[in-house]
Amino acid sequence: MRQTLHDLRRLAGERKLAMLTCYDASFAAVLEAAEVDSLLIGDSLGMVIQGHDSTLPVTVADVAYHTRAVVRGSSRAWIVADMPFGSYQQSPQQAFASAVELMQAGAQMVKLEGGAEMAPTIAFLVERGIPVCGHVGLTPQHVNAFGGYRVQGRGGDAQSVRAAAEAVEDAGAAMLVIEAVPEPVARAIAARNRSITIGIGASVACHGQVLVLHDMLGAGVGRRPRFVKNFLDGETSIAAAVHRYVEDVRAGQFPQADHIYADNPQKT
Ligand code: KIV
Repeated sequence: MRQTLHDLRRLAGERKLAMLTCYDASFAAVLEAAEVDSLLIGDSLGMVIQGHDSTLPVTVADVAYHTRAVVRGSSRAWIVADMPFGSYQQSPQQAFASAVELMQAGAQMVKLEGGAEMAPTIAFLVERGIPVCGHVGLTPQHVNAFGGYRVQGRGGDAQSVRAAAEAVEDAGAAMLVIEAVPEPVARAIAARNRSITIGIGASVACHGQVLVLHDMLGAGVGRRPRFVKNFLDGETSIAAAVHRYVEDVRAGQFPQADHIYADNPQKT
């Protein structure tokens, strides 16, 4: 039976959660057999599946298509679908319409990027029965505003990442992806214990970890961020690589020092 949010919250209190992105039925079955707790149909599909150089061209229809495939290939994992660029920023009503499409494709939760500016939208969705996962720190849909894929929250910016996380959690997000921020910033957000925090280039103190599937199999395109580890190295199959990822996350062995960021770039 498919896990519920209640199951996921209980598990997060007992052990670390392993999440991976997934875009099709075959990989969904492999990931689930390795006991990955949650599958994210990320808008990273724009890069690793469609070959774009950012996530911006992805549409709700694209994510819905891949969500249906992942749902058909799995039966237990918690399913999170990304709200693509332009599908939710305009208004809570626009976000609701996009989220409905993704939930009807089989998502159990939708993920959106941003901080306090998204709080009313998150509350609007949550009040209408749609579980929300926030995403703070390096939010790839803001690549043009950031001037590239850069670590966020260093020095004086630490407080703005923490404030973004607090606003998203206080608005009712049940899960929060924290991407590419200094480890102490991520640790402090996780310590609030207000949502299920999922780190990617963040901290081992988060309740769980996520990676882009293609990246952790050494098949990523373009930049290879510091937080990526190729789990296929030294393994003889994809199943074994995913299994090792799950074991390392659960044991608190991933991420290690070389996959996270110090608050001072000299230290990394
Ligand atoms: O789109 C995606 O794959 C993501 C992960 C990097 C968290 O948002």
